[in-house]
Amino acid sequence: MRSGWVFGVVAALAMLFGGAASAQTLPQYGADRHVGVTSCAGSTCHGSAAPWRNSTVLQNEYITWEQKDRHAKAYKTLLTERSQRIARNLGIGPAHEAKVCLDCHAHNPAPEKRGRVFQVSDGVGCEACHGGAERWLGVHVTGLGSHEDNVKAGLYPTEDPIARARLCMSCHFGDEGKFVTHRIMGAGHPRMSFELDTFTAIQPAHYVMDDDYRKRKRVSNGVQTWAIGQAMAITVVLEGLIDPKRNRDGIFPELVFFDCHACHHPMSNVRWEPRATVGLPPGVPRLNDSNLVMLRVITQRVDRGLADRMREQALALHKASTQGNEATVTAARALRETTNGLAQRFAGHAFGREDMQALLVGVIAAGKQGEYIDYAGAEQATMAIGAIITAMKGAGVVDDNGFKAMRSALDKLYEATAKDEEYKPRVYVAALQAFEQTIPKF
Ligand code: HEC
Ligand code: HEC
Ligand code: HEC
Ligand code: HEC
Repeated sequence: MRSGWVFGVVAALAMLFGGAASAQTLPQYGADRHVGVTSCAGSTCHGSAAPWRNSTVLQNEYITWEQKDRHAKAYKTLLTERSQRIARNLGIGPAHEAKVCLDCHAHNPAPEKRGRVFQVSDGVGCEACHGGAERWLGVHVTGLGSHEDNVKAGLYPTEDPIARARLCMSCHFGDEGKFVTHRIMGAGHPRMSFELDTFTAIQPAHYVMDDDYRKRKRVSNGVQTWAIGQAMAITVVLEGLIDPKRNRDGIFPELVFFDCHACHHPMSNVRWEPRATVGLPPGVPRLNDSNLVMLRVITQRVDRGLADRMREQALALHKASTQGNEATVTAARALRETTNGLAQRFAGHAFGREDMQALLVGVIAAGKQGEYIDYAGAEQATMAIGAIITAMKGAGVVDDNGFKAMRSALDKLYEATAKDEEYKPRVYVAALQAFEQTIPKF
């Protein structure tokens, strides 16, 4: 009863603030047939060698993707020596034939959902993000349908940060159907990290957000995208922690939910210090709370009471993680209840000039209070600062010189986080303080 009611309210909020999009089925699991990259890549479609001048979209998306985007190489990665070794260690047969690998390193819808020229070897192709094109292809080649018409016909709303976060994280963290476990990491898979605004920016753009784009689609500023990404990251991680299929590996809790470097750093590099927001003694693995730290900074700006509740419940979750599975799941549920709907709230919050300044100060303050003792926290903070100052520049909050000074101080933060296993919290905090000096006086 009650959960039905809560769901109704959350769904209504989602409609109000984020559009109905957040409920959209992910492309891999959708009912539509997938026509294949070849169908999008015609020279009169999205395979033009150069951008078209009088088209609303660039038309050379295929070339950008094929030549510059790692997603186009994702399948080829499975043919490398490293992947073969991972697959051998796991005993799953060749990596490029294993469902567990193809689910993320290619677009891997069910066989009956594949069109005639669909090829799994295309890697993470257009429809892996934009949705099976069977129905929307017709609407969209005529050029007559609106963006909404396309979405109704199954186009995935990648422009909506909430929907985009779910999509990207389904592969850059995992979802109920696919997941990089600690066993897969142990077999040799790299550690994964994700921040929505940064990763959106570093994926080579095959679109331009010009005036025409703004007429057709909603554009959120980078700080809002970052905030929504953090809220969605917590949603996705807590869902994983609560999911009985994903939170156990034999007698152990699934270690990917933990801070990797709590266990994996040289013993000579002793760096444990108490963290008031974690509350665990030395020598105990900690849950990876890097997204929580960011989310707390953001929520403090938007709803102080809620931020305080999150802090208490996160402490309880850390404690519960040492007390077995049931306690962990109960604590994760409580925190999820509190953080649920935050992405929708952020989607309805403008994140203007003063928010940007306050959030930049907030991310730095967290570091001075010792929140970035763990590498993952510093990594998120660095990407956050990048997202915030880029948005500040875009919004005209800082001029070119101001931005340049912050940008070079940010490089030092990137340097201090370049090698995860050699991370030194003190060096990072010093770089953070140097960065603080470059913030223009507002
Ligand atoms: C179907 C799975 C899938 C989806 C969906 C997906 N990615 Fe990826 N992404 C990958 C894989 C796999 C790689 C690594 C490819 C390789 O090198 O083999 C990757 C790599 C990347 C990289 C390069 C990372 C680096 O270290 O240089 C960026 C940036 C990126 N993805 C951004 C995104 C964004 C933004 C989204 C959402 C709009 C997204 N991805 C959605 C699977 C996916
Ligand atoms: C839940 C999604 C997911 C699954 C499952 C997955 N991967 Fe990945 N893999 C990724 C993403 C995302 C990256 C890129 C990480 C980054 O750079 O941020 C990646 C990176 C890699 C890399 C490093 C690529 C490079 O160029 O640095 C290799 C190798 C790899 N994966 C192999 C595999 C193999 C083999 C399997 C199957 C056992 C597998 N992956 C399963 C998502 C996944
Ligand atoms: C990893 C995810 C991903 C992949 C793969 C991908 N896209 Fe996109 N695409 C995006 C995102 C994110 C946007 C920007 C948000 C939006 O406008 O929807 C976008 C935007 C677009 C746009 C809209 C531009 C506009 O002005 O409205 C087109 C057209 C497009 N992509 C075509 C393609 C084609 C063709 C391919 C394959 C060759 C492709 N995309 C592959 C994520 C992806
Ligand atoms: C609770 C402690 C703990 C945590 C947290 C943890 N690991 Fe591990 N990891 C281990 C243990 C134990 C092994 C097995 C070591 C061995 O076989 O020598 C291992 C093995 C590995 C290996 C293979 C090392 C080798 O020498 O073959 C990799 C890679 C790895 N982990 C990555 C990760 C990543 C990435 C994370 C975070 C997502 C992580 N681990 C989190 C304890 C942990």
